[in-house]
Amino acid sequence: MNITDKFGRPIQDLRISVTDRCNFRCTYCMPKEIFGKNYPFLPKSHLLTFEEIERLAKTFVKLGVKKIRITGGEPLLRRDLSNLIARLSAIEGLQDIGLTTNATLLEKMAVSIKAAGLKRVNVSLDALDNDLFQLINESGVSTNRVIQGMEKALQVGLDVKVNMVVKKGMNDQEIIPMAKFFKNKGISLRFIEFMDVGSTNGWDFSKVVTKREIYDQLTDHFDLEPVDPAYVGEVAKRYRYVGSKVEVGFITSVSESFCSTCTRARIAADGKVYTCLFAASGFDLKELIRSGATDEELEKQIIAIWQNRTDRYSDERTEESSRNKEKIEMSYIGG
Ligand code: GTP
Ligand code: 5AD
Ligand code: SF4
Ligand code: SF4
Repeated sequence: MNITDKFGRPIQDLRISVTDRCNFRCTYCMPKEIFGKNYPFLPKSHLLTFEEIERLAKTFVKLGVKKIRITGGEPLLRRDLSNLIARLSAIEGLQDIGLTTNATLLEKMAVSIKAAGLKRVNVSLDALDNDLFQLINESGVSTNRVIQGMEKALQVGLDVKVNMVVKKGMNDQEIIPMAKFFKNKGISLRFIEFMDVGSTNGWDFSKVVTKREIYDQLTDHFDLEPVDPAYVGEVAKRYRYVGSKVEVGFITSVSESFCSTCTRARIAADGKVYTCLFAASGFDLKELIRSGATDEELEKQIIAIWQNRTDRYSDERTEESSRNKEKIEMSYIGG
């Protein structure tokens, strides 16, 4: 079955957050002052179980989802994650399973997640300079640990891409060192414009480094040629270093929004489904499941949610809406 929303957008990707906790405190995502000892993280009983996630995933795949991405918080903190990956891998009709991670536990887990059927990992790394990286992640983890995790993932046959959030005054000086390093390694690096997700990360337009600014810096050092999107609705705009197969990408939610082709639904760790990263509220699928809903009832509810969808936050973003709109936090919804 193929369902579409109010703007004719099909449902093709599902991002599933498996925990709202993280072992990092990146200043732009989980600032320490807010995500401290007393922060009300979800208790275990509020998390979807793997059985519940599998059941929801099957329903979404039936409705058109081809691609699932597991997110967090930090998804590798969720106990026995390989078990979930194996369950998802067995779903007929699903073409791709990825994971977005900070890679601190990747060295330890690469073998088991690959064996369970994972295809690829997107690793977050915002700086090569170790002192700066530690200032950003506020958890004492070194760049080496992340790079070792990445190397282990490559060794076991996972595809690896790197995500770098660029924020003005935080890490813009790392753009060229990161590009050089990952070009040499043959790993695709994606520059992400700093977004106004949630309401605790101190976002404003002046802190965004746009694709244009990054692209201009890059082309002072490298020749780039555009690469056609792999499919309609691909999040990153991709380029290739001329004369090589290595790619670099830009995720331009702020300067060139991509809502018109947005085919993504998101399930938070507590089972609420959201139809936009910048939503304020979501429908509680966990409650529906735990109240004994049949598969048909579940399916009907998800169809109704998607068919009513009108989200296009980034198309309409203003300094005003960014400040005043209530939004869920990134660590809760998983990006
Ligand atoms: P690939 O399948 O490898 O292309 O992954 P992806 O880029 O879709 O996922 P990833 O988790 O690596 O996300 C990279 C960045 O894109 C993160 O900052 C996400 O928050 C952002 N992103 C992903 N989807 C959307 C979206 O629908 N809207 C917005 N505004 N940002 C998104
Ligand atoms: N803006 C852009 N990207 C962000 N991420 C976390 N917070 C933000 C933000 N405010 C990134 C993470 C990770 C991905 C899932 O989202 O660094 O790579
Ligand atoms: Fe950093 Fe990702 Fe953890 Fe947020 S969820 S604090 S971006 S590692
Ligand atoms: Fe999709 Fe919302 Fe992102 Fe637009 S802002 S691309 S609708 S998730």
